Amino acid sequence: MILRVNGAPQDLDLPVGATLLSALRSGLGLKGAKEACGRGECGACTVLVDGVPVMACLTLAVRVRGEVTTVEGLTEEFRDLREAFADLGGFQCGFCTSGQLVRAAALLRAGLPATRTEAEPLIRYEMSGNICRCTGYNGIIDAIWATSEKRRTAREAA
Ligand code: FES
Ligand code: FES
Repeated sequence: MILRVNGAPQDLDLPVGATLLSALRSGLGLKGAKEACGRGECGACTVLVDGVPVMACLTLAVRVRGEVTTVEGLTEEFRDLREAFADLGGFQCGFCTSGQLVRAAALLRAGLPATRTEAEPLIRYEMSGNICRCTGYNGIIDAIWATSEKRRTAREAA
């Protein structure tokens, strides 16, 4: 079968029941999406399909028709988000981080309200499917908000 991943078609010979996660990790060697719970509860395996976050551990590879974006495919557009995670304590062990970054990327593309008072509840809600055992979440929220704010400031200055 052909999967489009990070902008390129990939021809994969997969077992019928293969998940998107196993196709990415075992079939293509893309180890960014992690397997933790394996049953849709933690978000560590989050990738985008046509820009929409999905849990790759619950998604059958043969059902995927759209463009898959993994954390490896979040290129320069999200350098600022990666730097904010690093600068503001958005990760510790890093196991959840690729899933957090992918979901946060979708959120930033959708756009956040201009004030933190309005944005923070939305960030917390949208990120609630991505579990982190280390950070206490505040660093993750801070990083997403800081990236949104920096982008808004840059747009207004342009
Ligand atoms: S590994 Fe997919 S949701 Fe936990
Ligand atoms: S940084 Fe360790 S689980 Fe999130």
